[in-house]
Amino acid sequence: MPGSDGSFAVAHPNIALVKYWGKRDEDLVLPCADSLSMTLDVFPTTTQVRLADCLAHDVVIVDGAVDRGETARRVTGFLDLVRERAGRTERAMVVTRNTVPVGAGLASSASAFAALALAAASTYGLSVEPVELSRLARHGSGSAARSVFGGFVIWHAGGPDHPDPDLASYAEPLVNARLDLALVAVLLDTGPKPVSSREAMRRTVKTSPLFPGWLAAARGDLTAMREALTRGDIATVGEIAERNALGMHQTMESAVPPVHYRTPASYRVLEEVRRMRACGAQAWATMDAGPNVKVLCAGDNAERVARELRQLSGCVAVVARSGPGATLDRAVR
Ligand code: DP6
Repeated sequence: MPGSDGSFAVAHPNIALVKYWGKRDEDLVLPCADSLSMTLDVFPTTTQVRLADCLAHDVVIVDGAVDRGETARRVTGFLDLVRERAGRTERAMVVTRNTVPVGAGLASSASAFAALALAAASTYGLSVEPVELSRLARHGSGSAARSVFGGFVIWHAGGPDHPDPDLASYAEPLVNARLDLALVAVLLDTGPKPVSSREAMRRTVKTSPLFPGWLAAARGDLTAMREALTRGDIATVGEIAERNALGMHQTMESAVPPVHYRTPASYRVLEEVRRMRACGAQAWATMDAGPNVKVLCAGDNAERVARELRQLSGCVAVVARSGPGATLDRAVR
């Protein structure tokens, strides 16, 4: 039971090796295809949800400042769903702290909604069983479904013919994956992105002539990625992840109007990664809804890859490894 301080939860971002890009149902946040990720051990989000009977509306405090904009609107929308399911009406005070720059394509919404889902479910008395929690977190932000779990995680799109599509779309750990994979995040620009990933995804589905091809390729990538992770085959994992990410960007760049997250600085890092590979290094790039490039490599090679990228790009490069799933944290005050 939550105490008078409510519940505190901690969750980490995840990086998709096979991306989620396209919804088949915007209201239920149902993706067009399965996706697969690794939860990271850096940039956690900590969220406290406390019932506040005296309030007429929810209060959302992000990194020390009251939010009255889009973030507060999404948090309240999410809490409305939690309250509806719990049969409760109390408003809440939500205090959240990110350690990752918000809006920079570093999956901050994944850790944010995974932590919020866990803290809110615990405070309002809903189940905190992880698979159920992943379904709930999905409603806040699709990629948050995966941050409920640690390590390698698959998010099932669920068949469109399933009698209850909400039930059919959930995340779970990929139990037989065995690979010491690390990621070097090259932070080029941590400002807010020009177009939200939600809007960019919507526009891509509606207007990109490449979207059907992207979906077919992503489905193939998922099967091949699962096999490569089971074999512990880092070269195949890296190749699939890089081509999947570049395919996602090409697809959104062909939307009308196009969505461009890649900047000249991103292209320079992508080129460096190709050059490092040509010199024999095992390093592959991936990108999300922002200009920053993340470089996948073997765990025992990560510090060397990070050093080289810092020298070449002059940028901050952070090493991340496989991290834990979302947890209730009673120690945080
Ligand atoms: C590029 O989960 O942020 O990071 O469901 O609309 O909130 P919404 O989108 P979001 O999209 C993440 C997209 C991505 C790829 C991925 O993480 O799979």
